[in-house]
Amino acid sequence: MSAATELQRVEFAATWLRDRLSTDYLAGVRLALVLGSGLKSFAEVLKDPIEIPFGDVPDWPKPKVEGHGGSVVFGLVSGTRVACLTGRVHLYEGWQPAEAVRCVRTLRHLGIGKFLLTNAAGGIADGFAAGDLMVLTDHLNMTGQSPLIGAHEPAFGPRFPDQSNVYSEPLRRELASCGTSLKTGCYAGLLGPSYETPAEVRMLKTLGADAVGMSTVHEAMALNAMGAEVAGMSLITNLAAGISKQPLSHDEVIETGKHAAAAMTGVVGEFCRRLA
Ligand code: HPA
Repeated sequence: MSAATELQRVEFAATWLRDRLSTDYLAGVRLALVLGSGLKSFAEVLKDPIEIPFGDVPDWPKPKVEGHGGSVVFGLVSGTRVACLTGRVHLYEGWQPAEAVRCVRTLRHLGIGKFLLTNAAGGIADGFAAGDLMVLTDHLNMTGQSPLIGAHEPAFGPRFPDQSNVYSEPLRRELASCGTSLKTGCYAGLLGPSYETPAEVRMLKTLGADAVGMSTVHEAMALNAMGAEVAGMSLITNLAAGISKQPLSHDEVIETGKHAAAAMTGVVGEFCRRLA
């Protein structure tokens, strides 16, 4: 027997979730959120939560990085029904791009139309400081990889998807107005797991990047191709290498994430309320 196709895996996971939660319940989900490093505490504010560990959903990959949770939590925020992925898997752990986007593709396949992708990132733009929130206007996919490579699967979008507006303008305007002094900018997604060298950060700045991280771009590409409305938000946990005079550490990223969680929770909570 040949191995399952990516579409079969997504359909299998979607059917399992539909059986568990019901079509009616899922039809009421207005937004799916992917919670990045140190940001998973947002899922704790959900009312009437239904938490399903990634390990329970057939064919979903299991996150391995400390600080990244591992469940999908459905529930209410200010009256809006949302689905939160309290973690993600990364290419630097050895996952393939199609595996890294399988959870979001499943949620899109279930009919969810709007997505907010969050991440921790290093600040590059002048004037950025640790603790800032940045609404993504666009991205640079610097991974050299794509979740769309392979035999064309029409259920995942066109063969040659347009990427002129990966981050929906109405959604990002709404998101940017949900807090005070939010930054906006372009996110560069790299493979990791090492942080960048100062020379790489200088290069990224020249290319137009305002922040740098190790996630998000493939999810945004896969969801855009599937016709979803996508918004993205980075928590600037540190200044990128060379801009920061100190060596970078994952612990710093997680700590800043925890401290800034309240600000992010406020902004995202307001964003959810407005989608009700
Ligand atoms: N570089 C890449 N990824 C990151 C950083 C960084 O400086 N900070 C948090 N995630």
